[in-house]
Amino acid sequence: MTDRAGGPAAASTAGQFLDPGQPAGRRRMVSDAFAARFGTAPEVVGRAPGRINLIGEHTDYNGGRCLPLALPHATYAAVRRRDDDVVTIHSRTVDETWSGSLADLAAAGGWAAYAAGTLWAMEVDHGVDLLIDSSVPVGSGLSSSAALECAVAVATDGLSGRHLDEARRRELATACRRAETEVAGAPTGGMDQLVAMLAPEGDALLIDFHDDSVRAVPVPLAEVGLELLVIDTGVRHALADGAYAARRRECAAAAHLLGVPLLARAAQDSWSRLEDDVLMRRARHVLSEGERVDTADQAIVEGEWAELGAVLDASHASLAHDFEVSCEELDAAVESSRAAGALGARMTGGGFGGSAIALVETDDVGVVAASVLAEYASRGWSAPTFLRVGPSPAADTVP
Ligand code: GLA
Repeated sequence: MTDRAGGPAAASTAGQFLDPGQPAGRRRMVSDAFAARFGTAPEVVGRAPGRINLIGEHTDYNGGRCLPLALPHATYAAVRRRDDDVVTIHSRTVDETWSGSLADLAAAGGWAAYAAGTLWAMEVDHGVDLLIDSSVPVGSGLSSSAALECAVAVATDGLSGRHLDEARRRELATACRRAETEVAGAPTGGMDQLVAMLAPEGDALLIDFHDDSVRAVPVPLAEVGLELLVIDTGVRHALADGAYAARRRECAAAAHLLGVPLLARAAQDSWSRLEDDVLMRRARHVLSEGERVDTADQAIVEGEWAELGAVLDASHASLAHDFEVSCEELDAAVESSRAAGALGARMTGGGFGGSAIALVETDDVGVVAASVLAEYASRGWSAPTFLRVGPSPAADTVP
């Protein structure tokens, strides 16, 4: 196929691209909705981004490195302080309201656990009215949950007028992670909240979970005519949560056998010492993924984009075969992107559905999207959604 973006292929896929909107417009929308529901304007509106992980998958809880970046797609939270201890949270995404007292926060369930849990972990000592809206697709592997937590956190923190320096951002990221692990009960690793709170605008964020240190990694894709295309498969397999916890347990077991506290601390080739085939492959993924993060980091610095593409491909193969967290919808998205000219592609996030990313020449975006759509149609699957993304700013209040 030779169609370029703007040609016939792009026209046929146009309705499948998810627009993040502009922060100012989104702020107005969420403020108007807040006023309609609660009778006054909000005091603060917070915004927090979704994320993709460029590379370094299932490494955070193993003490390894990862390279995520914040998306232009974000969650917005409008808030007003109350003088009593009542908390009311309305989500426009699901059109539901949760209401309770401060004492009920840690018992919230479903979507509300992420928002109420954040207020609980922040030890908020007064009631609030909150209204949430989002352009991050839910359950898409793009961290809609961290975006919800972090939007609630920066909005509510903004009520105090306190300056959001790096130390405060890290404290809020920790509170958001506690909401997720202790209230929502999802044993995730911390990457999502850290990138949502610390992403440098225009750059990816290298996070080293050995010591939680971070470093900005400029990714000048637009300057060289490249971009990242996100393919949201729209599927989420039921085993996702249980299987994520199982992977964590397997990694912990492998680390124990190798005599290290966290798997990423084991020597590079030590996976070959493991006799159990499953644990051996889990360890091989985690240790080789660490090397791939370094290769990607170097390739980006040197502008070696073909090499970056190759390392994305290798990461997907490792996740599919050794870590076993891909699925046929993700594999199909990755393979048809490559077949249509992507430099490389891989699943991103926890897996078992969710999204893939493809490194694509900007001129080829329409062709690649059309190729994935055609593949999905030929298999009788629902059409995926596409997001055109570049490194975007971290969570903050929206003036
Ligand atoms: C999910 C978790 C993260 C991380 C990724 C896999 O997104 O929330 O903490 O473990 O899976 O890299």
